[in-house]
Amino acid sequence: MNIDILTVIPELLESPLSHSIMKRARDKGLLTVQVHHLRKWAVNEYGQVDDYQYGGGAGMVMMCEPLAKAIEELSADKPYDEIIYFTPDGQTLNQQTVNGLSLKGNLLMICGHYKGIDERIREHYVTREISIGDYVLSGGELPAAILVDAIGRLLPGVLGDETSALFDSFQDNMLAPPVYTRPVDFRGWKVPDVLMSGDHRKIEEWRMDQSMARTKERRPDLFEND
Ligand code: ADE
Repeated sequence: MNIDILTVIPELLESPLSHSIMKRARDKGLLTVQVHHLRKWAVNEYGQVDDYQYGGGAGMVMMCEPLAKAIEELSADKPYDEIIYFTPDGQTLNQQTVNGLSLKGNLLMICGHYKGIDERIREHYVTREISIGDYVLSGGELPAAILVDAIGRLLPGVLGDETSALFDSFQDNMLAPPVYTRPVDFRGWKVPDVLMSGDHRKIEEWRMDQSMARTKERRPDLFEND
């Protein structure tokens, strides 16, 4: 999987994508992430990539030219399966979308800033617009880091236990069951007996019941998504 990211603040993406599971995915060559500074395609020697919006109003808009040139230059190297733009008015990200994107080969992600990007780029290049929730961030870098992380951990060979991503919350529209580790008794708070029974069928049943109960209580809406 190759992911290219266009941004005016590459520093925001460095740390989240350089540790833990993302580091492992990249070190193993299962995930390539290249962060490109949009100023490389700036319209002048001052590095300008944004301008005032037509019609007036506070806030700058990211200009067509740097974005179009960047997208065209990068696409010439590798045709993208999806060109993703992060925006609060996009489709809210969920596990199903992440699963679908994890099966693609080449993705380009565009991080907006200020008031966003010129609408014409959205119309003519962007294939998918994603929001990470109903709140407004100062840019698309954190959403991009979130999406790369969510995709990266699904790539075959990235997680140590090949099956573990299958049991995450939201796979099958269900929340994950509770988990416990040593000690069995912490200040009188005990681990459920069934988990120590060694009876795998019973343990599976218990986990399924817990998942159901938790989903019903916390996220009944997930049952309606089937
Ligand atoms: N950019 C600003 N806010 C955002 C959000 N909630 N999701 C995706 N991109 C954004």
